[in-house]
Amino acid sequence: TRAPLILGLESSCDDTAAAVVSAEREVLSSRVFSQADLHADFGGVVPEIAARAHAERLDIVVEQALAEAGVTLAEIEAVAVTAGPGLIGGVLSGVMFAKGLAAGAGKPLIGVNHLAGHALTPRLTDGLEFPYLMLLVSGGHCQFLAVAGPEEFTRLGGTIDDAPGEAFDKTAKLLGLPQPGGPAVEQEATQGDPTRFDFPRPLIDRPGCDMSFSGLKTALRRARDQIITEKGGLTLQDRADLCASFQAAVADVLTGKTRRAMTAFTESHGATTIAVAGGVAANRTLRAGLEAAATEAGFAFTAPPLALCTDNGAMIAWAGWERYRLGQTDDMTLAARPRWPL
Ligand code: KG4
Ligand code: ZN
Repeated sequence: TRAPLILGLESSCDDTAAAVVSAEREVLSSRVFSQADLHADFGGVVPEIAARAHAERLDIVVEQALAEAGVTLAEIEAVAVTAGPGLIGGVLSGVMFAKGLAAGAGKPLIGVNHLAGHALTPRLTDGLEFPYLMLLVSGGHCQFLAVAGPEEFTRLGGTIDDAPGEAFDKTAKLLGLPQPGGPAVEQEATQGDPTRFDFPRPLIDRPGCDMSFSGLKTALRRARDQIITEKGGLTLQDRADLCASFQAAVADVLTGKTRRAMTAFTESHGATTIAVAGGVAANRTLRAGLEAAATEAGFAFTAPPLALCTDNGAMIAWAGWERYRLGQTDDMTLAARPRWPL
């Protein structure tokens, strides 16, 4: 007999995703339809366009995920779906679709918190034991969490304004680079000088684990405008240097605060494991900085593969399994929640 299989659906932002994951931590399939092209002309995710695209694509993405896993819906143990937080139209599309699937096939339904999905991913990919420290960095979120159980999260600190992914996206927009901005800025930065612009490292010397990224964005705009005023435009090298200097500042702030978070976590939980998750955790400069800081502090460092750091269905399926095995399921009253703190 085979381990139970969970189907996971994700539609809270601009990716429509479905995956089949087993209770034994196998990812049998993971399909992600990016909507980046649909939103490209608008310089950000347009909620109405996103909701409509999710509604149109959920069907096919689920079909593909099942086909790739080589299973039918009948062989699935339960259906897990992101029930928030996120753009309400997309979350609603996913929740309604999952309700239809679950009701139609007579399967249990499990509502999953998107952030819990990211935070529990290292248990899927690396089998991490509780408790561990998690740095969750994405387009909408930035926080340090002590993860002590599938639903036991303690926030140790986080951004007081923008999320780093948002800052990457705005930086890309300011510099005429495509969205999502993170990968584009990272790519540019490989050609740039990270020391050319001395961007601020906000709150870095303050105690605690809170961070700020909005000042960085302002500093970048000012540096860009100054070059344009002086030289009439940005050269490719200017742009690469701006990207590299910006990325260095973000990585410094996150790495510096991670040092403090590790100290606080060891004091409160007596453990020495740290994991990163969320789209920004795909950034190689950041990963390298975090890994070095972790090693220095005697922490074991885990970063899931890139494809499982950005939004995907596998993390939702796994977080769904973690709830399901504790006997927790939802019924047809499961609500879509735009806001849902851990
Ligand atoms: O976790 P995610 O897929 O969606 C949520 O926000 O929940 O994260 C998307 C964010 C975007 O802001 C994107 O620009 C950023 O992650 N991102 C990156 C990289 N890849 C994606 N930021 C920096 N470097 C990257 N390589
Ligand atoms: Zn996410």
